[in-house]
Amino acid sequence: MEPLLAVDGVTLQYKTPDHLVTATWRVSFDIFPAERFILLGPSGCGKSTILKSIAGFMKPVEGEIRLDGRPVIGPGPDRMMVFQEFDQLMPWKTVLHNVAFPMLVNRIPQKEALDRARAAIDKVNLTKFTDVFPHMLSGGMKQRVAIARALAMRPRVLLMDEPYAALDALTRRRMQDELLELWDDTRVTLVFVTHSIQEAVVVGSRILVLSPHPGQVRAELNTGHLGKEHEDGPEFQALTRRISSMLFDNADIAAH
Ligand SMILES: Nc1ncnc2c1ncn2[C@@H]1O[C@H](COP(=O)(O)OP(=O)(O)OP(=O)(O)O)[C@@H](O)[C@H]1O
Ligand SMILES: [Mg+2]
Repeated sequence: MEPLLAVDGVTLQYKTPDHLVTATWRVSFDIFPAERFILLGPSGCGKSTILKSIAGFMKPVEGEIRLDGRPVIGPGPDRMMVFQEFDQLMPWKTVLHNVAFPMLVNRIPQKEALDRARAAIDKVNLTKFTDVFPHMLSGGMKQRVAIARALAMRPRVLLMDEPYAALDALTRRRMQDELLELWDDTRVTLVFVTHSIQEAVVVGSRILVLSPHPGQVRAELNTGHLGKEHEDGPEFQALTRRISSMLFDNADIAAH
């Protein structure tokens, strides 16, 4: 099967006034349709930078990113992003109009945009909040709106940068389960960044473990779907321990 998204030998750098910061070094991975692909690694290893380059906001200095075999040269509606921050919504627009906005910008006719927005809001269980403004929502609800807004565009890939990191533990768990239900429904290809091992194992079907700064691929794990029902089970625990040793061991463990 052809990968939907190919990240091929990608080195990413930031230029600051006095030096270059290498965020990732020759990172390669392929993502296939309907995968729940996790980028896992310590703070500063370049996870957000990789997402930004997939989204087309940043060009690799080496290597290439391809979507459906074509090089990514800029942002596009086929790659929608959900961020960590709760303030990614426009405070002067209702939930409905926040969700409809990117569709209208992309010249989808108003009636269709509003219909699709309502359907997406239903999918994230916010039907009752369709006409309220963001300040009336909890953090978790705002993240659901951001997810609805991205999904309503029907992207090829949904990019999520630690979308639940600022939530309390219980809400975070609930949101992870909801995301899995949403994925069951839509089969959207997910690229999900986290530095939580638990979240990686619950949400992911495949996990890419990155080394500390500058990020390099340390290991790639097929996890299938262990799911929350097995979280206390031996399989889940063993995988968690294995990933933990990969993240915290400096030895070269890529062969494991
Ligand atoms: N705008 C920038 N200018 C210069 N350096 C940057 C910039 N953004 C990120 N960096 C550097 O690039 C490296 C990777 O940053 P990035 O934000 O991608 O890490 P991350 O894995 O997402 O970390 P976290 O888990 O803390 O979000 C870090 O060393 C960071 O300091
Ligand atoms: Mg980040």
